[in-house]
Amino acid sequence: MPYYVTTPIYYVNAEPHLGHAYSTIATDVLARHMRQRGEDVFFLTGTDEHGEPVAQVAERLGVTPRELADRNSERFRDLVRRVDATSDFFIRTSDPEHVAAVQEVLGRVYDKGHVYSGTYEGFYCPRCADFKTDAELLEGDRCPIHKVVLEREREDNWFFRLSAFQEPLERLFAERPDFVLPAGRYNEALAFIRGGLNDISLTRSRISWGVPVPWDDRQVFYVWFDALLNYYTALTYARPENLVPRFWPPTVHVMGKDILKFHSVFWPALLMAAGIELPRRLFVHGYLLMDGEKMSKSLGNVIDPFEVIDLYGTDALRYYLMREVSLGQDGSVSPEGFETRYTTELANEYGNLASRTLAMIARFREGRVPGAEPAEELRPELDGLQERVAARFDAVEVSAALEDVWVAVRRLNRYVQDEEPWRLAKDPASAGHLDQVLYSLVEGLRVVSILLAPFVPAASERLLAALGSEERGLEAARFGAGSGGATISSLAPLFPRIERPAASPVV
Ligand code: MSP
Repeated sequence: MPYYVTTPIYYVNAEPHLGHAYSTIATDVLARHMRQRGEDVFFLTGTDEHGEPVAQVAERLGVTPRELADRNSERFRDLVRRVDATSDFFIRTSDPEHVAAVQEVLGRVYDKGHVYSGTYEGFYCPRCADFKTDAELLEGDRCPIHKVVLEREREDNWFFRLSAFQEPLERLFAERPDFVLPAGRYNEALAFIRGGLNDISLTRSRISWGVPVPWDDRQVFYVWFDALLNYYTALTYARPENLVPRFWPPTVHVMGKDILKFHSVFWPALLMAAGIELPRRLFVHGYLLMDGEKMSKSLGNVIDPFEVIDLYGTDALRYYLMREVSLGQDGSVSPEGFETRYTTELANEYGNLASRTLAMIARFREGRVPGAEPAEELRPELDGLQERVAARFDAVEVSAALEDVWVAVRRLNRYVQDEEPWRLAKDPASAGHLDQVLYSLVEGLRVVSILLAPFVPAASERLLAALGSEERGLEAARFGAGSGGATISSLAPLFPRIERPAASPVV
């Protein structure tokens, strides 16, 4: 089955921070899991390069918007590599192919009569690149997100007849209760629609850093329309062949809650206007908080993901973010929380379990995994685990999937304590029992490592290789499916103790 998954495309007006890494990692976890299931996955990410915020920062820095875009787009591309995200294409909205495709699609929307010329007057936040309704404003004239005082603006624009899609959007939400997940975000989007939709500006006339409007050379498209269309245009030129027939419509768009309105209201309306099939689902995650506030460049409370990775490694960062901040909710991150999870969960519960098991097989069974029946007492946690995890992923309950696997990791640790294999090894009469314990531990580790691969891909791969296990697909993650006889190899600690420098980059 085709599975097309996307991250939001990132603004190039600033460098990446941990909040951006979060969207990318969450999406990558989905993509990796679906590949394990044998689905035909296409994973898209990239950068959103046009519009006023970029033009303004470039001016302040004394560079052209293109220079700024080139520089920061490269940083985001780097981030994709450093977090081990397996994206299939990196789109830049300054790509000429994207620009041409945007013009084609929006030209179609114009030809079908969904666009008219008018005058806009209202409050506009250049940092959001968004108009604010009076109800949204703080203290009458401040941006609710950036808190800056806004100015009333008046300009001639082309308008998109969003109001005409009120009823079709209500119908869409009625027919597809899982169009937006989690349910709270679905309700929020629906309430916005029911509140009444006004037509919106499709173009801007004051700036030139954007996609030119084909029927009016004094205007460029409003950056959000250009940006949303990336999900569609990328498929037209990511490969020599057109991928639209193979992958459209998107299976899941992943995004943070700040951009829900654009994706749940403007985007489906635009696609309806263009006569293009709608995405199947939007998945909306929450914010990473630092001391109770959204981590953001403008608040100055950001963590640099590159520095965290230099210190702890990519797997540790991926694991921490997916575990600590339940996907779909807001959650606080902190250096202390990070260290605790690293040490107690990754290093002790998973890493030590792996090294102890390998050491015991080397010592008691000359490095060969014995053949045996899997232990009955481990079945409640391990039997059917892969189905439970897959069902979680179907519902985009990524953190719950990780929790399910971790319950099994903890169960295996208790099993070692209960069985005390080092004592069994002293008694030749217990040889059969010891075989079963060692086999069950290897099986348990094999199963959890396959299921953990989307979260901690490098550690999982190293451990599976050390166990002499070859299968990586989800169907292989069945407790007891492995036969004994494999020769194990040595393994350096999966999550070694970290000597933290006195001045830690993690704030
Ligand atoms: N360019 C738009 C998206 C266009 S998609 C057609 C944009 N870019 S962004 O760079 O500002 O944000 C990209 C993503 O990063 C969003 O999903 C946003 O929610 C996420 N995050 C930015 N800060 C975040 C946190 N502190 N926590 C979690 N995610 C956050 O919006």
